[in-house]
Amino acid sequence: MGEFAKLEVDGKVYMLPIVQGTEGERAIDISQLRSQTGLITLDEGYANTGSCKSAITYIDGERGILRYRGIPIEELAAKSSFIETAYLLIYGHLPTRAELRKFSELLTENQYLPEAVKYNFEGFPSNAHPMAILSAVINASSCFDPSLMRWEDKSSFDVHAARLISQVRTIAAFSYRKSRGLPIIYPKKSYKYTANFLHMMFSMPYEDYELKPEVVRALDLIFLLHADHEQNCSTATVRMVASARANLFASAAAGVCALWGPLHGGANQAVIEMLEEIYQSGDDGSKFIAAVKDKTNRRRLMGFGHRVYKTYDPRAKIIKKACDDLLEVLDVHDPLLDIAKKLEETALKDEYFIERRLYPNVDFYSGIIMRAIGIPVEMFTVIFAIGRTPGWIAHYKEMMDNPETKIYRPRQIYVGPTQSSFIPIDERK
Ligand code: ACO
Repeated sequence: MGEFAKLEVDGKVYMLPIVQGTEGERAIDISQLRSQTGLITLDEGYANTGSCKSAITYIDGERGILRYRGIPIEELAAKSSFIETAYLLIYGHLPTRAELRKFSELLTENQYLPEAVKYNFEGFPSNAHPMAILSAVINASSCFDPSLMRWEDKSSFDVHAARLISQVRTIAAFSYRKSRGLPIIYPKKSYKYTANFLHMMFSMPYEDYELKPEVVRALDLIFLLHADHEQNCSTATVRMVASARANLFASAAAGVCALWGPLHGGANQAVIEMLEEIYQSGDDGSKFIAAVKDKTNRRRLMGFGHRVYKTYDPRAKIIKKACDDLLEVLDVHDPLLDIAKKLEETALKDEYFIERRLYPNVDFYSGIIMRAIGIPVEMFTVIFAIGRTPGWIAHYKEMMDNPETKIYRPRQIYVGPTQSSFIPIDERK
């Protein structure tokens, strides 16, 4: 006999089953609540709502734990690569050498965009945000493969997954080149995933970009650290769209749109803009912290706070160290890093932040690494999207493989006018 929670409404008692996850996390199963009681639950922002059971990523926000398929993020950051981690997320286990080779070959074979897709880039204004281009072109790419439209057809999943991972990077680099009026650079077969992205971003037709191993490694680490984060806003969006049996590319395009928001993936761009503003104003960060605490101006310390983490985001710790290491190797002194460190130091001692349990999140230091690499600020959220793509694919596959997957369709509590009659236009005041 399992465990139950007792709910008493209108003098009647209902027994609601308690579900337990593999890490001991418990939830009240309310799937029969409405049919049994006529009631629904109300949880705006879903902070207390589990939308699914998932075996991909585990987070303990109180203890600052993040694991992909059971493996701590710290171990993956130290020992794995983005592509190996992508395989782990999507297929549920670390690949053997043969599996990894096959996966890499599939990525290489699928990295080119159909030629006609290229014309999509011509239609955008030169100042278009690359996230708009990314979302539009990912969606447009699905027209080129009719087999994508068949949700039930699992036989082509591996190719579609590889195509999306590879093409997201190609589209991202093309969108940057287009925005700068630069000629498009095609991927090279001999380059690995992250090196190829840097090549497509920065090479010229007459001169290849010089690939520094430390730079390639730092960017690969950023991709890896962003690869999944369970039911965050963009992944929940991907799952929402996929639940209607939309194709993988359409679902991922929707994820890109959600990620673009400044409270989500757009925060990495917002952090650098905030640090620039502080630097330009001659503040060392203290005035800014005071302004954030003054609720009348609705400012936030970007890159701080998290819905799930109520302690230091484990990814932020890894990124902060990588940031220090890379800047030292490249011999770069970035005054924005000094400001970021000062902000962190001040905030972590300040009652406002302590009370609300606000700590640096993944976005706080990642922008400084990207700046050092030469990635322009408007591409920061695109980098996040490239990193998050394997996570979105893993969630899509999890839904596809689950015969019990239903369309996501929340309910609501209606608070609008009660029944009223239509008023003819001449009688309206
Ligand atoms: N700066 C100042 N105050 C903050 C911050 C912040 N960064 N974050 C939260 N707070 C305050 C809120 O004003 C609120 O205070 P109150 O209780 O006095 O009203 C309290 O902390 C709780 O904040 P909520 O917005 O209710 O927390 P929620 O869980 O909904 O939001 C979020 C989480 C969106 C990440 C928030 O912390 C935030 O806006 N951070 C800045 C943006 C950011 O860095 N986003 C990236 C998140 S990580 C990611 O998506 C990859």
